[in-house]
Amino acid sequence: MKVIETCAEMAALCAAAQRPLGLVPTMGALHDGHLSLVRQARADNETLAASIFVNPSQFGPNEDFAKYPRSFERDLQLLEEEGADLVFAPPPEEVYPEGFDTWIEPGSVAEGMEGEARPGHFRGVATVVAKLFTITRPDRAYFGQKDGQQVAVIRKMNADLNLGVEVVTMPTMREPDGLALSSRNAYLTPDEREAAPAVYRALCAAEDVWRRGERDAGRIRRAAHNILGRETLVDAVDYVGIVDAETMRPLATTPEDRPVMIAVAVRVGAVRLIDNLVLE
Ligand code: PAF
Repeated sequence: MKVIETCAEMAALCAAAQRPLGLVPTMGALHDGHLSLVRQARADNETLAASIFVNPSQFGPNEDFAKYPRSFERDLQLLEEEGADLVFAPPPEEVYPEGFDTWIEPGSVAEGMEGEARPGHFRGVATVVAKLFTITRPDRAYFGQKDGQQVAVIRKMNADLNLGVEVVTMPTMREPDGLALSSRNAYLTPDEREAAPAVYRALCAAEDVWRRGERDAGRIRRAAHNILGRETLVDAVDYVGIVDAETMRPLATTPEDRPVMIAVAVRVGAVRLIDNLVLE
């Protein structure tokens, strides 16, 4: 496994690598959710590339960039065990050199939910993913459904800009009590950790109402709010979104012929948790 710090060397090694090449972009602090992407990418491709880059441009000024969990040596060990060939781990100035001034501005898919709660977040995500795609020119790239709106933004950018990458989405990995795996779970205190599965229970309650025939988004949303409202350690509900699973357009009633995403973002203490379910 080679660890590469410069864009030029990564581009050269990827250009010379055996195809197909699968890319797993990450911000490190790897958990089983990431490893499910890595394993799928290993199974699908001749060359497995991963990136570890905590992307400063997708964090707002009051967000957790500085204290985002970092475990570089452990991440490398895990990637090596999973059979990665190339790991791109550039310093920030390699990705955003002095004078960097070109950004990808996603459209309406990035407007609601995370886009509204975290202004500029998807501009940073889309820009870094476009750069990673351009440097590595992957045949396939792997992302987790846990960041459902992020996947929709990346799919739309990939299609609109003819980047030609097969975007593979892998299911959300969960703890036995339903909490979606996330690097940020490490910030939860024991009490908060106990409260956090309320997010998944809220999603399941909303799904249950929908499965029993409810199509009014307001009433589906209320089922989720009822569960979240009962959990005293859930300090704030940023949103419960009922949206078209591809366009992220908010829905008043759920259609029969297109998948729908229910997405939740809450704050538990200092930790912001997001999760979603797709109803098909
Ligand atoms: O999901 C993440 O870890 C990041 O948003 C990504 C896709 C690696 C871009 O920085």
